[in-house]
Amino acid sequence: MDMHNKFIDINGVEMVFHTKKGAFHALHDINLSVQKGEFITLIGHSGCGKSTLLNLIAGLLKPSEGLLLCANREIAGPSPERSVVFQNHSLLPWLTCYENIYLGVERVFGGAESRIQLRERTRAALALVGLTAAETKRPNEISGGMKQRVGIARALAMEPKVLLMDEPFGALDALTRAHLQDELLKIVAKTGSTVVMVTHDVDEAVLLSDRIVMMTNGPAATIGEILDVGLARPRERVALAQDAQYAGYRTAVLEFLYRKQAHPAKEAA
Ligand SMILES: Nc1ncnc2c1ncn2[C@@H]1O[C@H](COP(=O)(O)OP(=O)(O)OP(=O)(O)O)[C@@H](O)[C@H]1O
Ligand SMILES: [Mg+2]
Repeated sequence: MDMHNKFIDINGVEMVFHTKKGAFHALHDINLSVQKGEFITLIGHSGCGKSTLLNLIAGLLKPSEGLLLCANREIAGPSPERSVVFQNHSLLPWLTCYENIYLGVERVFGGAESRIQLRERTRAALALVGLTAAETKRPNEISGGMKQRVGIARALAMEPKVLLMDEPFGALDALTRAHLQDELLKIVAKTGSTVVMVTHDVDEAVLLSDRIVMMTNGPAATIGEILDVGLARPRERVALAQDAQYAGYRTAVLEFLYRKQAHPAKEAA
């Protein structure tokens, strides 16, 4: 891999949290290079450090050791070119759905575009996630799944170079989830965004990813295996349900999660 291919480059990262109860070594020796336009999922058991790794890439955490680069520059803090969809949405409760998205759009495009263009972007993002009818509602007036969709719309509307998503579909019902996965695939195909997404869902990981990064259990969690998913794009979920290659990838991830890295709670039992 030449320098050009390493859009995100993570080298020798360690993450130690200092708490009242002492130091906690969350991540150990994380090394990962992500190419421009690549779709990466992070999978692993609860508490292994997926959100921590995503927050390091977002620039919301600083590593205890090691270096993270994006486009050859050190990731020194959060930036709109790396927008995040958080695990627990994180909408401003006093703003409407429309205003929550507009705020992000204005931050990125406000300097260069007219109000009309900013409104157009906001409306398009709302329509994309099917929330046009809810645009004047506030977060406490909509369901958890709808809140999550507003968070996704906000991140997508900012057209980030890197889209970081922490279990963005975790709180959604299966049909909405499938719909948004398909929409995400279309958007990413169109924009060429680089995506790093955390998921618990094996099927989601195989359907979406170019590579699946499988993490070992903590403490001192690290990357256990990386699976290349060679399924042709565009991918179609119904056809893939019968596909032997798809089934093989799925089994490889299940093997890792339930044989090689059985959940810590089960090992103790
Ligand atoms: N700010 C913090 N201070 C102390 N410990 C932390 C902090 N953030 C995370 N941890 C610990 O680091 C480990 C990894 O946490 P993290 O949230 O990254 O896990 P995760 O893989 O995202 O889990 P989940 O799938 O449940 O979301 C956990 O043991 C957690 O308790
Ligand atoms: Mg998490």
